[in-house]
Amino acid sequence: MLGSKLSSFLLLALSVVSLASPTPDPSGRSAGKRCEDPVERKNWNKLSKSERKSFTKAVLCLANKPAKYRKHIPGATSRYDEFHGVHVQQGGEIHFVGHFIIWHRYFLLAYEKALREECGWKQGLPYWDWIADVASGDKMDDWEIFDSEYGFGGNGPWMEIPEGQEVFPVPGRTGGGCVPDGPFTTKNFHVGLGPGANASVSNPHCLRRDFSPEIVEYNLVQETWDEVVGQSDYGRFAKRLEAEPSWGMKNIHGGGHFGVGGSLGDMGDAYNSPGDPLFYLHHNNLDRVYWEWQKKDLKKRLWDVSGPIHMFDYANQKGGNVTLDFEINLGPLSGTRKLWELLDIRREGMCYEFEDSD
Ligand SMILES: *[C@@H]1O[C@H](CO)[C@@H](O)[C@H](O)[C@H]1NC(C)=O
Ligand SMILES: *[C@@H]1O[C@H](CO)[C@@H](O)[C@H](O)[C@H]1NC(C)=O
Repeated sequence: MLGSKLSSFLLLALSVVSLASPTPDPSGRSAGKRCEDPVERKNWNKLSKSERKSFTKAVLCLANKPAKYRKHIPGATSRYDEFHGVHVQQGGEIHFVGHFIIWHRYFLLAYEKALREECGWKQGLPYWDWIADVASGDKMDDWEIFDSEYGFGGNGPWMEIPEGQEVFPVPGRTGGGCVPDGPFTTKNFHVGLGPGANASVSNPHCLRRDFSPEIVEYNLVQETWDEVVGQSDYGRFAKRLEAEPSWGMKNIHGGGHFGVGGSLGDMGDAYNSPGDPLFYLHHNNLDRVYWEWQKKDLKKRLWDVSGPIHMFDYANQKGGNVTLDFEINLGPLSGTRKLWELLDIRREGMCYEFEDSD
């Protein structure tokens, strides 16, 4: 009797200990406490209709709240614009670098926090499982995420690319104009900044999309996901995840950006893609890929970072690689962090998990 009580107490104590202590960090840094009540980041297609409505309402709430940091981001008029603006300001430092996916992880965390604390959203940031949408065989225009009532609205009407306007060529583009339906039409919402990489210039304009079914069907497939998650170390993983600004290899990052907004859509603009609220759900699915990859061997992969500090500097000709102590920031939105502080989504201060992914 006493024995069995003792052993169940020990079992309980052990499970409490294993809950409380995250995977140890070999470099000796304190990994911090494991958080107790992670928010759930759910698959968009599994949200109820009323949850979908509350989410897009929360985004519109952020877009209607006045900016707090005009001194730092002069072109931003809303809280929503401030996130967009920080991505514009840092656009030349956070892509094709070792910290690409980690910076974006931090960015989403701050956005999620704003939706929850300032706009009443109750869950984690939803993610967009594009592979399931492609695999459904349904036409892109009919995907639930693009629904005009319970989604993000759909494609823009067809627009020729104005003569002399240089754009990244996107095969199979079908739109390019202002999104005519859904919660983010000009009746309720404007993209506040861009085009161009200057967050000092306010330029409210309509949200534009330019669907390419060809791009999504080619890129956003299980085979690409598996190839990304199958990489053996962080450097290879991060580089394969981000892929290249070309169609030379199947690309889940670019597939989402250019499939929704390549050429004339906001999603295809390297600096201004967060002008489209769908950006955050796309990137959340990429963050989910990152966690999938980490989970395959947490002991090793939780603390593995590398890759260039400078854009495209994969041969380290301009500088070195990022390390665990490399610092990133979100301008005025949130403090400076070392990369190692952002690697474990279960720790306090991060504290989220993916539905269907544990
Ligand atoms: C951004 O635009 C403002 C206003 O036109 C200009 O003063 C500033 O120099 C520009 N900044 C950059 C980085 O181009
Ligand atoms: C930088 O990171 C890349 C990608 O992981 C790796 O292949 C390379 O060896 C690293 N370079 C140095 C100098 O550590």
